Amino acid sequence: MDIDWEVLRSTAAAAAERAYAPYSNYRVGAAALVSDGRVVSGCNVENAGLGVTLCAECGLVSDLVLGGGGRLVAFTCCNGRGERIMPCGRCRQLLWEHGGADLLVETPEGIWRMDAVLPQAFGPEALAPDAPEPVQTPSSG
Ligand code: THU
Repeated sequence: MDIDWEVLRSTAAAAAERAYAPYSNYRVGAAALVSDGRVVSGCNVENAGLGVTLCAECGLVSDLVLGGGGRLVAFTCCNGRGERIMPCGRCRQLLWEHGGADLLVETPEGIWRMDAVLPQAFGPEALAPDAPEPVQTPSSG
């Protein structure tokens, strides 16, 4: 599948301009290519209850699901200056759910696979009905 990173970058930058970030003044925009060719995006939306803040990736995932779902294929995010940034830890987990190991993530150091951005991730297979029970031994903590 062809990935137009320029389209993703400009979509993320446009999303960052829409951010609601009156508390941190740190705008974030995120954009991703979906398996069916759609481009989804999101911006951060802060709240006076600071812990309630929604990261840009939350909006992106909502856009994905509302638009019919699918798998994330390629992802980028930037700050208000258009600089590449890394998704925070919580958002890496969100991306894992909808893109998995193969998702390509643009980082400040280039394009990385999601399983390098979030190694040894906890994912849906752990909750599958026939998933093996983790063995507890004194040495495994
Ligand atoms: N932020 C995101 O939107 N995504 C990230 O992955 C990192 C952080 C936002 C949350 C908050 O509004 C601001 O950046 C500063 O942390």
